[in-house]
Amino acid sequence: MAIKILGIETSCDDTAAGVVEDGSKLLSNVISSQSQLHAIHGGVVPEVASRQHVRDLVPVLERATANAGLGLEEMDAIAVTYGPGLAGSLITGVNAAKAIAYSLGIPLIGVNHLEGHIYASWLAQSNLEDDPGFPLACLVASGGHTDLLLMEGHGKYKLVGRSRDDAAGEAFDKAARILGLGFPGGPEIQRVSEGATGEEKLPRAWMKDTLDFSFSGLKTALLHMAQDRGIYPSPQEGVDQERLIRELAAAFQESVVDVISSKLVDMAAKYKVKGLVLGGGVTANTRLREEIIRRSPLPVIVPPPILCTDNGAMIAACGYFQYQRGEESAIDIDVDPGLPLG
Ligand code: KG4
Ligand code: ZN
Repeated sequence: MAIKILGIETSCDDTAAGVVEDGSKLLSNVISSQSQLHAIHGGVVPEVASRQHVRDLVPVLERATANAGLGLEEMDAIAVTYGPGLAGSLITGVNAAKAIAYSLGIPLIGVNHLEGHIYASWLAQSNLEDDPGFPLACLVASGGHTDLLLMEGHGKYKLVGRSRDDAAGEAFDKAARILGLGFPGGPEIQRVSEGATGEEKLPRAWMKDTLDFSFSGLKTALLHMAQDRGIYPSPQEGVDQERLIRELAAAFQESVVDVISSKLVDMAAKYKVKGLVLGGGVTANTRLREEIIRRSPLPVIVPPPILCTDNGAMIAACGYFQYQRGEESAIDIDVDPGLPLG
């Protein structure tokens, strides 16, 4: 019998639920994004996010089960993100999952959000045709993390590199704000960078002899360059604002892409892995995906962009592997905003 798992994700500003069969077959994936709501503030406002999850979660759950053509009572287990993330946001999803699991008498499975991003690569929509086997080098690059994880088997991780300051996604969001672009910043930077000539260059923080990253200096370098070129804090007369925004956005994107792809490929060689796995919102970035694939001699497993950003299907996929190992959570499981992986 096929195992059907409902995955719930409310760790940040997306209210999401998805149904996955046997850890890889996506039956539904419903995402209600709050980005419009937070855009006027230029970033996620935690209190606004948690209130909106309360409004959106039930309709999202109804659509996720309806799109899968299944009733809640047909689920074998409920998987839910219990950390890391914003406490008030996580609580909404965890409480809903507890109520459903308890009332149906089925297992509740608490999932680490970062591990969920990795398991998006196990969904059939990703390009994993031939399983390269373990170990794998995983990059999780999101709004809160830039982690390099050695995955030695299902559920077995070692954190071997991370950002010491801003996460890559956070840096993209801050860079977009400097350039007067919208929120979230990553997709905006990618969009305006198209057609850039590459005439502007920003530095790279290589952080020698470590797989750790640093992105806050790059953001400051961008700020200084934007001031110097006369587009920040407001455009000066006579400057070609459109061209400068395009070139500075592209310079920023190239710096991030260069450092991340270089360290990930180095890590893969150092730990003699069999393949690379990408996950998290920043890995939706076209240039980052292209560059990692171009530089890596090993297979690169990457989900389609919609499964890189936060979604419930990845939580269901991850939950399936925990279910198979009998890793059920207690019904009184609490949220863990700082939950580590590896
Ligand atoms: O994984 P995610 O959806 O949520 C968190 O777990 O944080 O990642 C969101 C982050 C945001 O910072 C957003 O700007 C970034 O991912 N992002 C991108 C792109 N799409 C989303 N960054 C660069 N290029 C993109 N295309
Ligand atoms: Zn995420």
